[in-house]
Amino acid sequence: MNITLRQLRVFSAVARHLSFTRAAEELCLTQPAVSMQVKQLENQLDVPLFEHLGKKIFLTEMGKEVYHYSRSILQQIDELQGVLNSMKGLGKGRLKISVASTANYFIPVLLAGFCQRYPGVTVSLDVTNRETLLTQLADNEVDLVVMGQPPEDMDLGYEAFLENPLVIVAPPEHLLAKEKKIPLQRLEQEVFLVREPGSGTRIAMERFFAQHDVRITTGMEVGSNEAIKQSVQAGLGLGLLSRDTVEMELALGRLVILNVAEFPIMRYWYVVNRHGKRLSVVAQAFKDYLIKESPLLLGKGEQRLPGRVEKKSRSSA
Ligand code: PGA
Repeated sequence: MNITLRQLRVFSAVARHLSFTRAAEELCLTQPAVSMQVKQLENQLDVPLFEHLGKKIFLTEMGKEVYHYSRSILQQIDELQGVLNSMKGLGKGRLKISVASTANYFIPVLLAGFCQRYPGVTVSLDVTNRETLLTQLADNEVDLVVMGQPPEDMDLGYEAFLENPLVIVAPPEHLLAKEKKIPLQRLEQEVFLVREPGSGTRIAMERFFAQHDVRITTGMEVGSNEAIKQSVQAGLGLGLLSRDTVEMELALGRLVILNVAEFPIMRYWYVVNRHGKRLSVVAQAFKDYLIKESPLLLGKGEQRLPGRVEKKSRSSA
């Protein structure tokens, strides 16, 4: 028998709600991902756990036994985590982090989970652009930073923990909205709204177009992702933004992603500290939490990430 804690957690959520949909919502997973975990558990145990009657599901007799043991195993694990936390001094502590303004679209959710797990921890969060983050790292003002590709000329330790695709967005009525595989050169006829100097998104955008020899026209310079989205909706130009920033507008049909050749530009989110800085127990716990748990907590699929860097990287920003 080779069952995993993840399978037990997912199964227990389905058994508690007697619903795959509600379990998926609670765990921030897709319904197929939840079904797959339950199926795998059934295969490992070689027993059916649920039966379907009409639109409803019920635990089988064996499912009820498995649920009983799952709950007690998971309670024991939580208890163990609590004991280890207090032994490691995680009961109380301070975490000082700074994140790129674009990361602010997902960091609060992750912080909420972390603070729930470690209620004694006090967090101070600063949200600012890439340039300021680098100054804060250089001046040793923060424990950890969350940012796009760190620069190679600073003495840093960093590890990627999430993909960060950059996309081009337009209002739904835009001429290019329904086009497929729009050639990059076609973008030369459009106006782009750009973030302020010092923004990682802007640096990535300028580098990408320069590498592909595309000369875009830049219109207004706008100091935040929110303002760019509003301006794009108002028809002032196209925006090049992290996909993380536009989830809501896409769902509401206020913006669309243009299907442009070579896109998305794949960037990554990194958790960064000064190389050699001794991380506090809390900072180390948060770093591990981001690396190990954020894709699952944010309901993202499998991530293809670059490797960890301990000192100076050869890749560039
Ligand atoms: P920004 O950073 O919010 O400063 O644009 C995002 C990134 O570096 O990708």
